Amino acid sequence: MTIRAVVKGVGHYLPDRVVANADLEGLVDTTDAWIKTRSGIERRHYAAEGQTTSDLGTRAALAALADAGLLPDDLDAIIVATSTADLTFPSAATMIQGALGMTQGFAFDVQAVCAGFVYALTTANALILSGQAKTVMVIGAETFSRLMDWSDRSTCVLFGDGAGALVLAAETGLGSIADRGILSTDLHSDGRFRDLLYVDGGSSTGSTGHLRMEGKEVFRHAVEKLAETAHAALEKVGLTSEDVDWIVPHQANIRIIEATAKRMQVGMDRVVVTVQDHGNTSAASIPLALSVGKARGQIKPGDLLVTEAIGGGLAWGSVVLRW
Ligand code: UT7
Repeated sequence: MTIRAVVKGVGHYLPDRVVANADLEGLVDTTDAWIKTRSGIERRHYAAEGQTTSDLGTRAALAALADAGLLPDDLDAIIVATSTADLTFPSAATMIQGALGMTQGFAFDVQAVCAGFVYALTTANALILSGQAKTVMVIGAETFSRLMDWSDRSTCVLFGDGAGALVLAAETGLGSIADRGILSTDLHSDGRFRDLLYVDGGSSTGSTGHLRMEGKEVFRHAVEKLAETAHAALEKVGLTSEDVDWIVPHQANIRIIEATAKRMQVGMDRVVVTVQDHGNTSAASIPLALSVGKARGQIKPGDLLVTEAIGGGLAWGSVVLRW
């Protein structure tokens, strides 16, 4: 018998405002055709003025709680993956804890940029396996529209806002790959690549700053590292690509998603793709894709999923779980 962190509920929230590629044509020197061809993005959502990351995360958390049939005080912990917390502190997680009216347990943020949700899932899994928590809410929530340099056409067209959430709870499994829940995880980072993708603000500057990216270089690392980490996570439990029902990738660029699927020898009919509708929502992209994939009827109970993501740091990793 083995303890497993099993998905009990999923939900998401996207702000009302939808911005199509054509809407950006008047802002910077770009075209709908360029954005679509180079990234696969067609539209993205932007938070309304005054709407914060914790607002989006709270809406996603409520949807996930409803899906799980649980109340806020049934949770032992909340982990939020974000790089766009409302304030430097307190954490977005404690703000969401307060907004949910959860009066016990503990809450904290995890910051691994676009790989944040994979890091947060791994942390939640560790808390559950060690017996420190039984029921954990894992949220990815971001307002990357607030980090854009609106004069930089190579980045400002790529990102969007949104939130997704999963409720994980301890269940007893047989210890085999047939168990539901998280089966393996694989994390990496390499700070030598910190200058490829960063925000030029923080405590060292006294301002929030703007996102800066060497797109081509990040692309090259993504194509190389994502298939590698997904394979590594599968191998840890004796699985291969052939066993995978769905790749649920970080949604940064359709060309990265396709190249990774090809390297893994998984057809695109087994990949959940939302990048066209959400753009790159950083740590929110995987839980958004999980929630949308379930709502579309793609992800079903018992399916074997592999999630993979890479972002600033560089930080990357993957999680294998049975839904
Ligand atoms: O989520 C974290 C991880 N992030 C990523 O995974 C992003 C990884 N990188 C990418 O997705 C791609 O590199 C981009 C979508 C950012 C760029 O695609 P690319 O094929 O690497 O294009 P590029 O940067 O090489 O630019 C090609 C051309 C350049 O013009 P020249 O120098 O060839 O004349 C750019 O100036 O496209 C130009 N360009 C644009 N043109 C129209 C750059 N941005 C735009 C734009 N509209 N928005």
